Amino acid sequence: MPDLPDLSPRPGDLEPIETASVDELRALQTERLRWSVRHAYDHVAHYRAAWDSVGVHPDDVRELADLARLPFTAKADLRDNYPFGMFAVPREDVVRVHASSGTTGKPTVVGYTKDDIDTWATVVARSIRAAGGRRGHVLHNAYGYGLFTGGLGAHYGAERLGCTVVPVSGGMTERQVQLILDFRPDLIMVTPSYMLSIVDELERQGVDPRSTSLQVGIFGAEPWTNDMRREMEQRLDMHAVDIYGLSEVIGPGVASECVETKDGLTVWEDHFYPEVIDPVTGDVLPDGEEGELVLTSLTKQAMPIIRYRTRDLTRLLPGTARTMRRIEKITGRTDDMIILRGVNLFPTQIEELILQTPALSPHFQCVLGRDGNLDHLTVRVERRESTALDAAHEAGSLLQRLVKNSIGVSVAVDVRDPGGIERSVGKMRRIVDQRPPR
Ligand code: DLL
Repeated sequence: MPDLPDLSPRPGDLEPIETASVDELRALQTERLRWSVRHAYDHVAHYRAAWDSVGVHPDDVRELADLARLPFTAKADLRDNYPFGMFAVPREDVVRVHASSGTTGKPTVVGYTKDDIDTWATVVARSIRAAGGRRGHVLHNAYGYGLFTGGLGAHYGAERLGCTVVPVSGGMTERQVQLILDFRPDLIMVTPSYMLSIVDELERQGVDPRSTSLQVGIFGAEPWTNDMRREMEQRLDMHAVDIYGLSEVIGPGVASECVETKDGLTVWEDHFYPEVIDPVTGDVLPDGEEGELVLTSLTKQAMPIIRYRTRDLTRLLPGTARTMRRIEKITGRTDDMIILRGVNLFPTQIEELILQTPALSPHFQCVLGRDGNLDHLTVRVERRESTALDAAHEAGSLLQRLVKNSIGVSVAVDVRDPGGIERSVGKMRRIVDQRPPR
């Protein structure tokens, strides 16, 4: 690990709730949960119908454990109520909407009241502070601005903390580099995959990425591994911390890593109540067991969300740097699980193995194909600039062996030249499914 400066918060920097006792936190959550459930039932036809049909009423939710009696909410419920059917306040009180495009069909739309925007700015400011950000820092924001929640979510939070925000949005990588060199930001917020493209561009321009002013990268919106953290911290000589969120729940800032521990993401539990369930049975799992994250908003007005199935796989862990519980770094989404000859695997597992192969760069994709009835996977990866062609070939064979030994499945490896894999300016498409429909 590089020797990076200590950016832990100073006494008095934190909000009181971040250091409240577990009992105080649970009491606040219980009170807020009762409000949120009642608000959803009274003002959103979908919740009323769904709960009436299973005979549960808001009055039945007295304690946090009672939440498990309510049905789940899924992305399809948002689609079925497109565009504004999940709103719990008159449309005139909604000051902003965002939407996620999704892969098929209608986007899912989310809405915010003025107070919701304020809550969101609070949790993002808290996240940036947890990452080591301070009032007065210059923050380069390369998350996309627009319907995506990344850009504006980060922006309002950074302003709230008192940062000088550079609202670059994603894309135009040469300009990103120019602004980093000229404005000398302390912090950067961007997807980890796009950060890699920015690093490549710095190197292409002959700039040592370790020499920039950046002290912290706050990376999220897609899965990335601890091996990727090491890669980023070494190549950039800065802290790399994780931020998580999803538009249905608020956007970025649902959970975030603390720079002093970097041991998973603290869930801002005073606003979002986490559960982890068995994705098949729907049973709530005890803390520590891996499953699907389910989130409930405790304070949102415009679009309360109750027991939303995120499809993200993780575990709940006890608090460390804060009282609130943590989630482990997300392994992947249930939809991104590749099943190959009976073996389940996620792109993050491939990422870890690539990063253990020094001749290979972290730019990669998992390409799925089919021969007859048999699915097969090709890992498409780039050699590093410094790797000679024959060494690249050897590295490909090594990666193949690593995958076989640690995941237990045979894959093909296609090592390409630098720049041989598509780049994204936001979320990277890790899985390319070329299988013909059955
Ligand atoms: O990606 C919000 C966001 C923006 C988070 C910027 C962090 C930074 P959506 O477009 O609705 O919202 O996508 C949400 O992205 O369910 C996860 O599958 C994935 N995701 C988000 N953050 C992380 C993360 C934004 N830190 C979906 N690690 C979520 C892994 C993440 N996956």
